Amino acid sequence: MTRILIPLLATLGLAAAQDDAAKAKLMETGKTAFATCMACHGPDGTGLPVGDKKMAPSLAGSPIATGKPDIFAGVILKGIAKETQDYMGVMAPLEATFQTDEMLAAIMTYVRSSFGNDAGMVTPEQAKEYRAKWADKKEPLKRADIEEMEKK
Ligand code: HEC
Repeated sequence: MTRILIPLLATLGLAAAQDDAAKAKLMETGKTAFATCMACHGPDGTGLPVGDKKMAPSLAGSPIATGKPDIFAGVILKGIAKETQDYMGVMAPLEATFQTDEMLAAIMTYVRSSFGNDAGMVTPEQAKEYRAKWADKKEPLKRADIEEMEKK
């Protein structure tokens, strides 16, 4: 029994350590990439204030950032259609900045695990799937559609 169990536990331990290392690397890359988001979402992710308004909503506890990762990926890649004047900024499509699955996974992992968020890691393999899902989308996402998709 122990002859099977010990190697098995060692393998599981190793897998966990590899996961931790992978996440640490994504977090480091993601932190650097967050410079792109900071201009509007602020250095602490709560949304940069301009007068009595903000450039962008807070990412701390954001239902989109911490919700279904495929939708979060869509928001980053395709942006959000500007339908209100609630915020001074525009969530523009950032596909050109996040061309590699590694970069997309890194920014998603960083935002999902920072500012008090605890929504977990996104691997480059998952990022690749999410990117494929949005490949044919030509326009920014609409708020109403995002909310509908989050509910499903
Ligand atoms: C030029 C300004 C700007 C930049 C840069 C920017 N955003 Fe945004 N972001 C916005 C605005 C404005 C909204 C709100 C859009 C709306 O509803 O009209 C938004 C909305 C979001 C939302 C939805 C939040 C919610 O819960 O409603 C997420 C998630 C998000 N942005 C993530 C990011 C990430 C990640 C980056 C960097 C990769 C980024 N944004 C870069 C302006 C920006």
